[in-house]
Amino acid sequence: MGMTREQMLAEMGIAPIWRERGAEPTPPSVPDASLPPADAVALGRPVAVAVDAAVAAVSAPASDWDGLAAQVAACRACALCRERKQAVFGVGDRRPDWLFIGEGPGAEEDARGEPFVGQAGKLLDAMLDALDLKRGERVYIANAVKCRPPGNRTPEPDEMAACRPFLERQIELLRPGIIVLLGKAAVHALLHDDKALGALRGRQLEYRGIPVVVTYHPAYLLRNLPEKAKAWEDLLFARRCLRATAAPEAGLPF
Ligand code: URA
Repeated sequence: MGMTREQMLAEMGIAPIWRERGAEPTPPSVPDASLPPADAVALGRPVAVAVDAAVAAVSAPASDWDGLAAQVAACRACALCRERKQAVFGVGDRRPDWLFIGEGPGAEEDARGEPFVGQAGKLLDAMLDALDLKRGERVYIANAVKCRPPGNRTPEPDEMAACRPFLERQIELLRPGIIVLLGKAAVHALLHDDKALGALRGRQLEYRGIPVVVTYHPAYLLRNLPEKAKAWEDLLFARRCLRATAAPEAGLPF
C-alpha cells in the first residue's frame, strides 16, 4: 500500500522543511573485444573505448521514442555497457511539465531498470510530493548517463558525451516546461558548465529555449541534511520559472 504524503515526508525526515513558506503547517507525522578491460572500468579509470558500429546510432539517435529506447538498450558506445545489467532509459510522463535529470543509475536502478528507485530516489519522490507532483504525472525523470558507472562513481566526461545525444533527443521529444538538473554531473552533461553548483543555483538558465534550474543531487542532500532547505528554495524557484514561462492555455494545475 502507498504511503501518505505526510508519512513519506516524515519517513524522509524532511518535514517541516519541504513546505512552502506561509503554507498551513502540517504536523510532521510522516566482454566485448572492442571494449577496455573490465578492471580499468571497475577502478573508474578513464578508458579509451574502441568505437564500433553502435556509435553511429548514438550520433544519429532515433527520431521516435520507441526507437530511441531500443537504441539505448542496445548501446555499446562507451565502457559503461560492460557491467550494466540493463540500460536505464527514464520514467514518467511523455508530455511533462517537469524534467528532472540526475547523474546515472546506481545498483538498484541498474537492477530494476528505473531511475531513482533507491534511497536518493525516495528523497526525490518526497521532493516531488512536496510540490504536489509525482513520478509519472507531469514529471519525467532521466539521467545524464543511462548505464550504471561501476561503484557508483561519477560518470567520466567521455561517458556523458557518448550518452548526450540520447539525452538531447529525449528532451527534444519530451519538450518539458522546465528542466531541473540534479547535481554537478547533470549540469556538466547538459550545459557543459563546470562552475560550482552554488554559483549556478537561483538563476534561470536555458537549454534550447527551455528554462533550466540547478539544484543539489538528492544523494548529496542525504549526506548534507541542512542543505535540504536550499534545495527546497531551488524547487520553488523552478516552479516560479515554469509558471512564468508556461502558456496560459496550458492550464497548469497550480
Ligand atoms: N542517482 C542518480 O543520479 N540517478 C539515479 O537514477 C539514481 C541515483
